Amino acid sequence: MASKKKILVTGGVGFIGSHTIVELVEAGYEPIILDNLSNSKIGVLKSLEKITKRAVKFYENDCNDISALRNIFRIEKNIVGVIHFAANKAVGESVVDPLKYYHNNIGSLVSILSVLQEYSITNLVFSSSCTVYGQPETLPVSESSPILKAQSPYGNSKQICEEIITDVFNSGKAIKAISLRYFNPIGAHESALIGELPLGVPNNLIPFVTQTAAGIREELTVFGNDYNTADGTCVRDYIHVVDLAKAHVKALDKLFAVKDEHYHDVVNVGTGKGESVLSVIHTFETITGQKINYKIGPRRAGDIQEIYADVSKSLEVLGWSAEKTMGDAILDAWNWQKNLKNLNLV
Ligand code: WQD
Repeated sequence: MASKKKILVTGGVGFIGSHTIVELVEAGYEPIILDNLSNSKIGVLKSLEKITKRAVKFYENDCNDISALRNIFRIEKNIVGVIHFAANKAVGESVVDPLKYYHNNIGSLVSILSVLQEYSITNLVFSSSCTVYGQPETLPVSESSPILKAQSPYGNSKQICEEIITDVFNSGKAIKAISLRYFNPIGAHESALIGELPLGVPNNLIPFVTQTAAGIREELTVFGNDYNTADGTCVRDYIHVVDLAKAHVKALDKLFAVKDEHYHDVVNVGTGKGESVLSVIHTFETITGQKINYKIGPRRAGDIQEIYADVSKSLEVLGWSAEKTMGDAILDAWNWQKNLKNLNLV
């Protein structure tokens, strides 16, 4: 039997990373996790073992620690690819602490790219974000849409990382890279053993909704209802995290199918549908029967009005498209929230 392809997954204990570990195992890859646990819980590893029915190798290191990276590549012979999730991702925090974001998000990518070159490993899937588009002029937003000035150091760090990968590709060095521009990842694994685990008060909408429904938060504030949208609230393209995880496997498959050791592409990963904040709240109430206590508050600085993906390229290049609905994601997120008290995710 051919040996399994070893893939280093940085940030593999995180929200999208952990769901991708499940899909990699499912697809016959051998994932190896590197995570510094700065924004995730070690208990997630136990859940991953329960779901995948096997132990996943884990290294507690920081991607900025290049000697630790070299050590992993030395111990784990024949790693043939990397999925690089590890990064800070809170838009608001990045405005307050930009150096943390430039140091971590850009520094870790440069370290990963350097070690890949040292070990002549060419396959890289990079975690980018629709934030690079800013507020698109036209919708749906496609990969050829202009990259507008980032609205936050977080978004800027993702733009700079994409440029770094492009520059390495243009230098002629051997690299096969796909940057995936995520829209809004939501939901959880159907087992309710892994899901979104915001530390402290959630920045993102869905965990705030589920925590309000669970009585952990008093009241949800809808950040503005005076936008130029159907119901006045912001519109986003919410994608189930399991669909997003599967897109990473498809991106790896694509890289291994490309014979030339020199390839670079950028792909949107979304559903192609836009949903407003109020429609998310009402869908949650309808599906779960849980009333959400919310009020309309002022706009949040840095928010764009409306964005959703042109998904044609993801189908064409990756042979992937989202399968799960907003309802599936909301139900999975709610089951995860309810199950959290039974999990010891320390
Ligand atoms: C969604 C909508 C808020 C919370 C960010 C990053 C993006 C990605 C996902 C990493 C907005 C509204 C939210 C609340 C609200 N992260 N909202 N009350 O800002 O679209 O995207 O997270 O890849 O890169 O930019 O996601 O979930 O924070 O907000 O009204 O308590 O919900 O105003 O319109 P966002 P979000």
